[in-house]
Amino acid sequence: MTQLLAIIDFGTQYAQLIARRARELNVYSEVFPYTVSAAELAKKNPIGIIFSGGPASVYWDSAPDVDPEMFDLGVPVLGICYGMQLACRILGGSVDQVNGREFGRANLTITKPDALFEGLPRSQVVWMSHSDAVASVSGDFETLAGTESCPHAAVRHTSKPFYGVQFHPEVTHTECGTKILRNFLVEVCEAKSDWKMASVVEESVASIRSQVGDRRVLCGLSGGVDSAVVAALVHRAIGDQLTCVFVDTGLLRHGERELVDTEFRDHFGLDLRVADAEDRFLACLAGVVDPEKKRKLIGHEFIEVFKEAAEKIEDVSILAQGTLYPDVIESISPTGGPSQTIKSHHNVGGLPEELGFELLEPLRMLFKDEVRRMAVELGFPDEMTWRHPFPGPGLGVRILGDVTKEKCDVLRAADRIVLEEVKKAGWYRKMWQAFAVLLPVQTVGVMGDCRTYESVVALRFVSSQDGMTADWVYPERDLLATISNRVINEVKGVNRVALDISTKPPSTIEWE
Ligand code: XMP
Repeated sequence: MTQLLAIIDFGTQYAQLIARRARELNVYSEVFPYTVSAAELAKKNPIGIIFSGGPASVYWDSAPDVDPEMFDLGVPVLGICYGMQLACRILGGSVDQVNGREFGRANLTITKPDALFEGLPRSQVVWMSHSDAVASVSGDFETLAGTESCPHAAVRHTSKPFYGVQFHPEVTHTECGTKILRNFLVEVCEAKSDWKMASVVEESVASIRSQVGDRRVLCGLSGGVDSAVVAALVHRAIGDQLTCVFVDTGLLRHGERELVDTEFRDHFGLDLRVADAEDRFLACLAGVVDPEKKRKLIGHEFIEVFKEAAEKIEDVSILAQGTLYPDVIESISPTGGPSQTIKSHHNVGGLPEELGFELLEPLRMLFKDEVRRMAVELGFPDEMTWRHPFPGPGLGVRILGDVTKEKCDVLRAADRIVLEEVKKAGWYRKMWQAFAVLLPVQTVGVMGDCRTYESVVALRFVSSQDGMTADWVYPERDLLATISNRVINEVKGVNRVALDISTKPPSTIEWE
């Protein structure tokens, strides 16, 4: 049986990060809202619990609280930042405002050896981010480590299995953070660290079989790795009870349709239906400039085409989707309330339930990097496994202004050159995404003594862990020079190439 680490989310931006760190240490983890009761959690039989940090102060009336019986489940609890303060308050410590807030690096000195710090140097850099801290602890606690401004930076309870740390072991800036989490999991919780992708695939296949029985399943393929893994996994489980639909929107990258065809029809032997819908998409986008309107129109048209394709397939009652764990965590956000819509996302994994199907979501407990590991496990070729993410609305949101077939062809040609050269230079795997954007401006140029007045292509190269934040990447000058040269020479209608050097936030990765 899979061992589970439970993470209680008090509204931190790091809950997912803690979950990932545990999984990187081969311990399966799930995030729960702080409202979960100890009894509910006990049913899941966790081997340990981590209380996350959070933006609140334990003194606020509205401060997130936790079921105190968590400490009586007989499993170790590690409180981080707010999680530590809350636990110490419940177990008899006092929390106070720190003299001045403490954000960023601090030097931690271990004052009492403990399993939590096994194998670590006595002094090390940790990352702090707090306004409150534990000011004093009762005799039931031992202080294990401190920093200059935070004397109780790590504590443990003497009779209950509780540890607390004021710093953040989950962030990479905490030098020995991973080791501390490993010590908590392996030394304190006695985790077996045996959560491996091969067994995840086996378990998924078994659970798909039991959900589906002898019914038929439909899966939308986008060409991206998530829907591809769903299709391959479901196919492994139920074979020809699965039918896949790929919608050719005309807003795809160069070679996308052919790749899906070769991989899925030829390699995996799937029943794949392709819906030709380029004309429909271009017709509905004609003259539309507003990015949100474009996204909504594309999403809507996609569902219509998909529905029509699905109606032609007999007896299908289940829809397989590539929902990932971050979407699931977001939907149980402990802070509640919808966040502001920056962009209306559309993807194959987001087909609405109103289509009248039962849903099958085999990736709903996985992160993107885990999906890629699963792709490797399923025998995907590298080209498919490591494909950069591509937005559901495709080139439609990379052509700024109105979308036409001519512009799609121009951008497709430029994007193809970008990807070819990035791969050739060995940069593809070092980037989260690399792509071209077609701008709605024309600039003056000179070619062979003649004046030109043509379009501008912008290059976007970013690094990211999950697409939530991103930094721009500056690849070597030679690569930029080759891309610029080739795009201007080979793509008719483009006479200028620009480089986007914006981070997310405040910009976003896609331009629309
Ligand atoms: P932004 O532009 O919001 O993008 O910084 C973050 C990540 O999401 C991808 N993206 C999408 N993916 N459907 C998707 O499946 C969409 O509608 C969509 N819009 C953006 C984007 O490529 C980046 O990786």
